Amino acid sequence: FSLKPYNTFGVDVKAKYFIEATTIEELKEAIRYSKNHDFKVLFLGGGSNILLTRDFDGLTIKLSLKGIEEEDLSENEVLVTAKAGENWHEFVKYSLDKNYGGLENLSLIPGNVGTSPMQNIGAYGTEIKDTFVSCTVLDLENLGLKTFNLEQCHFGYRDSIFKQEGKGRYVILDVTFKLTKKEHHIKTEYGAIQTELENLGITHPTIQDVSKAVINIRQSKLPDPKMTGNAGSFFKNPTIPLSQFEDLKKKFENIPGYPNGDVVKVPAGWLIEQCGWKGKQIGNAASHKLQALVIVNATGNATGKEIFDFSTEIIHSVQEKFGIELEREVNIL
Ligand code: EPU
Repeated sequence: FSLKPYNTFGVDVKAKYFIEATTIEELKEAIRYSKNHDFKVLFLGGGSNILLTRDFDGLTIKLSLKGIEEEDLSENEVLVTAKAGENWHEFVKYSLDKNYGGLENLSLIPGNVGTSPMQNIGAYGTEIKDTFVSCTVLDLENLGLKTFNLEQCHFGYRDSIFKQEGKGRYVILDVTFKLTKKEHHIKTEYGAIQTELENLGITHPTIQDVSKAVINIRQSKLPDPKMTGNAGSFFKNPTIPLSQFEDLKKKFENIPGYPNGDVVKVPAGWLIEQCGWKGKQIGNAASHKLQALVIVNATGNATGKEIFDFSTEIIHSVQEKFGIELEREVNIL
């Protein structure tokens, strides 16, 4: 069974068995079946943050639980719960159609609702932890349901308990967000949003305007996975000690950095571009010509291994030039 349509890199690997689960019961049944038959299991959401480097000799379960529910909290607040298989951007659009605020900066992020807490998806000054209330998960150890609240998720930059202690143990079934109905907190601090709103001639932006600006920015520099396979940023932006940043600044005076106490976050895209990788192609893999941090399946025929090896070369050259070790953001199988 080819997984090509199920990963946004568009890599063609085979899964021995494949099933799409649309209810919790179907999901549990598939898990029990694989336990009884000693199959390994791979869970797939939107397939937008995974690089498949080999065929999978087990059962792939695509999580397709659908549905959105709401519960009014007050005049100004509403709880909205979306099931794991809802497409993220469709969910953002749903909230904007109802004029619910909080998710607008996260417009057009590929993937599904169920994987959004895994890496605490974030963009343009917002992360899901800012509106996240809780998520329901299936515990694979006993097939019981469990709820994780905000604190229990241990959210960090592109990080959560589901990538750390809880890795491989839980399947996220739904996610609840607290959104605003009237008094929205418009976030336009991210420079690119301000510039785009100015371009659009908007001085008092609504949440829908912010969404439009974010969509324009993303479309102007991030490749559409439907056209060119990719998984967004391939690496995390590294955080380095302030002292190391200051040393680097002596040698590379234009190096950008966002200081935070005694550490500095450096944009990986800049480091990669400085090493000459932007737009460069080796075989079927390339660094995107408009955003070096994004690795693309340039011809549509790249293997996962080819993309992985390409990323390893990038890691080596950034290490050599700057002494900084890039960490992959994308999950590797
Ligand atoms: N830059 C370059 N060359 C490049 C790309 C970037 O020099 O080819 C420099 C520029 O100086 C720019 C800075 O890097 O000012 C930051 O670039 P950008 O605003 O594009 O953001 P980013 O740090 O590269 C992060 C997220 C994105 C998110 C944007 C906007 C990570 C790993 N990536 O990228 O998330 O959309 O900020 O908030 O934190 C994703 O996770 O898939 C993703 C796309």
